Amino acid sequence: MNRREFLLSSATAAGALGMGGYGVAASHVKELILQPASFALRGGQITNGMVSLSPDAPPPVLYGQQGKVMRLPVRNTLPDYTAMHWHGLRIPNAMDGVPYLTQMPMGENELFTYEFTPPDAGTYWYHPHCMTMEQMAHGLTGVMVIAEPENPGFDSEQVINLRDFRLDDDGSFLPAFTQRGAARSGTFGNVHTVNWLQNPTYDHAAGGLVRLRVVNTDTTRTYKLHLSASDARIIAWDGHPIEGEVPLPAQETPLMVGPGQRVDIAVAMPTDEGQTFDLIVKLPGQPHRAMVRLRAIGQSQARNLRELRPLPTNPVAKPDLANAELHEFVFGWTPEGGIPDNGFCGTLGYNFWSINRKPWPGDAAQDVGPLATLKMGKTYVLRLRNESPNTHPIHLHGLAFKPIRSNQRKLPPLMTDTMLLLKDEVVEIALVADNPGDWAFHCHVIEHQKTGLTGFIRVI
Ligand code: C2O
Ligand code: CU
Ligand code: CU
Repeated sequence: MNRREFLLSSATAAGALGMGGYGVAASHVKELILQPASFALRGGQITNGMVSLSPDAPPPVLYGQQGKVMRLPVRNTLPDYTAMHWHGLRIPNAMDGVPYLTQMPMGENELFTYEFTPPDAGTYWYHPHCMTMEQMAHGLTGVMVIAEPENPGFDSEQVINLRDFRLDDDGSFLPAFTQRGAARSGTFGNVHTVNWLQNPTYDHAAGGLVRLRVVNTDTTRTYKLHLSASDARIIAWDGHPIEGEVPLPAQETPLMVGPGQRVDIAVAMPTDEGQTFDLIVKLPGQPHRAMVRLRAIGQSQARNLRELRPLPTNPVAKPDLANAELHEFVFGWTPEGGIPDNGFCGTLGYNFWSINRKPWPGDAAQDVGPLATLKMGKTYVLRLRNESPNTHPIHLHGLAFKPIRSNQRKLPPLMTDTMLLLKDEVVEIALVADNPGDWAFHCHVIEHQKTGLTGFIRVI
């Protein structure tokens, strides 16, 4: 697909979906082409050396439907290796996009056609799983929306892809990682964007019901968020509808959304034309900052959140806790030395982290075994222990899990694929091992993933 065809198909799809943005229905996708891009991330300054699926636009929101097949041919035109991963989707292992584990990395001009049927509706995302630091930090992190068979009653929706970029004063990229950052909480970006824009404003019908799909695709930052809207409710977390009430974020108790995590918020637009509300983020040592503004336009319909039908639950198997088997995982630093981690294709050149005190020894190594082998259909409790003072968003591919207890806090009733582990926290998660294959299991702070905090779990 060339640039014009891409724009045409995305315009049609975005129009049809009432997106007013940069969405494309997966059924319209002829090819997703990884390519170099340029974009004005800050002011009028063009940043070159970005990576996207078009030469001058962010990776599009890909729309699919629950239970409907999606066919996504991905072509790599970069001089580096790559592979595309569909974060959070419970799809066959061979389509998971993890180099050496589920497929060979794709070289320049190679094509790999991903084809799968998403079993779950919700908010997901996609990113390369090879040369991850280079390609993600330079822009290639896109949102994926899997729609329920029926709209539960929203008038519109708004995708909010949160990303920081690390730029110099002239708009050029600063190094995406630092040894100092990799050994601590990661290296943070300094230009904060939503859908690659700084402080965008989006218009939605006055009084209408909007579904916000907030996605943290950053390589490092855990966003602390709150909303200045008066009528809003969290309806889903990491794709899956929540089973109970989760308190709405407020200024004093912001919502922590770690790298890889998503939160869906239902919100009623203000009823007067021109009225606004903001999604606000608290950055360390800075005043609260509005990341994105929603503005009411047109005649008010004054709808109420109670008019929404509950989201249908996704078909995730319920853990049988009485017959569960326990596995323990310790996340922490690694002893000095060893081979630098080759964390699934691409290395940073050093090792700081480990799972069960062993750093990931490199995907090309012949003898790398799974961290655990789980039996199909059985329930497992995984005890995740953070031995370090840094937070780690621990992500498991291919399976959804239920956090059941923490030694530090009351956990909300969720199903998820990415668990944010706080300093010294121990969290137990429960799952039914019902998707066979080798599933990557790693921290989603990419500098941690790439310096040892990676492994995989086998389901047979
Ligand atoms: Cu979002 Cu292993 O990835
Ligand atoms: Cu993933
Ligand atoms: Cu980490």
